Amino acid sequence: MDVMTELNLKQEIKILKKELNAIILAHYYQEADIQDLADFVGDSLELSKQAAKTNADVIVFAGVHFMAETAKILNPTKKVIIPDITAGCSLSDSCPATLFKQFRDKHPEYYAVTYINSSAAVKALSDIICTSSNAEKIIRSIPENQKILFSPDRNLGRYLMEKTGRKMLLWDGTCIVHEQFVQQKIEKIKLENPDALLIAHPECEEKVLDISDFIGSTSQLLKFVKENPAKKFIVATEVGILHQMKKSCPDKIFIPAPPENSTCACNECPHMKKNTLEKLYLCMLELQPEITLPDDLIKKAYIPIKRMMDLS
Ligand code: 13P
Ligand code: SF4
Repeated sequence: MDVMTELNLKQEIKILKKELNAIILAHYYQEADIQDLADFVGDSLELSKQAAKTNADVIVFAGVHFMAETAKILNPTKKVIIPDITAGCSLSDSCPATLFKQFRDKHPEYYAVTYINSSAAVKALSDIICTSSNAEKIIRSIPENQKILFSPDRNLGRYLMEKTGRKMLLWDGTCIVHEQFVQQKIEKIKLENPDALLIAHPECEEKVLDISDFIGSTSQLLKFVKENPAKKFIVATEVGILHQMKKSCPDKIFIPAPPENSTCACNECPHMKKNTLEKLYLCMLELQPEITLPDDLIKKAYIPIKRMMDLS
């Protein structure tokens, strides 16, 4: 895209935003230009909270499908659009609603705590939703003798078991981005940068989390680098977060953790990066792709999301 086109697109998006009375919500893994145009950039929980309280007529969700779907469930009467409707999530894909329902029917004694990275259909079959920033609190709120099924991220689930001391049955899903970070490569960077702190998202593998100085959701990682006096951080999560880190702390150094295969861009989420400035403009111009869901599914999926919101 040439400079003029890029400038025009940004201008047009701002004009459309006013005309539509729209709010642009963006996740930290979106490309920098999209983050800069957004009214709000945040982690999954913060984005849901923003979606729940907005007065805008149109919610433009620059993120992946499950995030936009959650915004729709929280705002059934509003129009929710997404730049690329095919922007999915490997975690969500790893937990098909049919299999999840089979488990639930066979084991009704389990209380289903489901990570927000899941489809509306799976949410509708769950007892409570959580995000990486409130998961510990949600697990701790469940009575000790209650059996728990945690889905779909086994890494986050294992991490929560360690933190809370609760045994849980884990769905076997992973994130294609976070499972790429390998301990050996990170150890090497740590040796080369002994003054750097390693910070990681809980979707990373156990071996990476074991050597991390801090573990948290995207917003918690951002808060940590702002508040910690260290000057150098190795960041084990999707590389898009570095944009806000550099903006907030221009005097600090951020080293993206390398994926297993250093020749690929595997520390970028291919789903998140399907959204582009051009697609953002087009979706606002055409008011599509739009997130639509059957009313009964919205009603069912709202219940476990509301339980989460009440506890957050
Ligand atoms: P956060 O809620 O921490 O932003 O995580 C969302 C996500 O998809 C991480 O891969
Ligand atoms: Fe899903 Fe992983 Fe992408 Fe997050 S980074 S949206 S968990 S595939």
